Amino acid sequence: MSVDRPRPLVAGNWKMNGLRSSVHVFQEIGQGYTPELRERVDLLICPPATLVHAFSAIDVPIPVGGQDAHAEEAGAFTGNISAAMLADLGATHVILGHSERRSLHRESDADVRAKTAAARKAGLAAIVCVGETQEEREAGRALDVVRSQLRGSLPPEMRASSLVLAYEPVWAIGSGLTPTPADIAEVHALLREELGEALGAEEAGRVRLLYGGSVKPSNAGEIAGVENVDGALVGGASLNAADFLAIADAFARR
Ligand code: PGA
Repeated sequence: MSVDRPRPLVAGNWKMNGLRSSVHVFQEIGQGYTPELRERVDLLICPPATLVHAFSAIDVPIPVGGQDAHAEEAGAFTGNISAAMLADLGATHVILGHSERRSLHRESDADVRAKTAAARKAGLAAIVCVGETQEEREAGRALDVVRSQLRGSLPPEMRASSLVLAYEPVWAIGSGLTPTPADIAEVHALLREELGEALGAEEAGRVRLLYGGSVKPSNAGEIAGVENVDGALVGGASLNAADFLAIADAFARR
């Protein structure tokens, strides 16, 4: 059975950027999220955890997400934040397994899987990230790496409503480099197929597959046109309201 193409989602990952004074950027994005845009594309902003509450309290139709959450609900984990805490602040989503977490905090697929299960339990949709390094791509291992990360990072019984996948080649993040549309299409087709095996084809067709890594207004149109690309996870360009809205517009027009 064929399913409708999912509504695109353009999500901003602010990483460790933003102070309380940055609220105006979120407000500007909200002001630019016109009814025409709203009809065609979903937006999400994932600011640092310190801003989740302030952003979610602002009256704009843009949900707010976290950038990581601990696998446990509460306990002796100094410095960590749980999915339940993010939900309590008004978050609806959480990015998990971002390559910066995987490399700088040594997060394994098993860690990401446990966090994804915790997010679901807390009522948050998980944006699970996968992606190969430059060396892995050059060695012709990109598809194997992404497949194994995906298999290792998803808990059983995931549903499309609580899952978003982001393909973010590590070498494309913050570098200005992007894969060719054909390379993105190849990885996204693999993700869809793998999801089909895990969730069944119909449910897999509803999961939004985002591309992330140096998405900007100048390349968003081309990326939005790639088969199986249902949105973008945007780092640097999401810190600027005009750039983020231009990317959203490219996805609205695809
Ligand atoms: P970038 O980051 O858009 O700055 O490359 C993307 C990401 O890390 O999610």
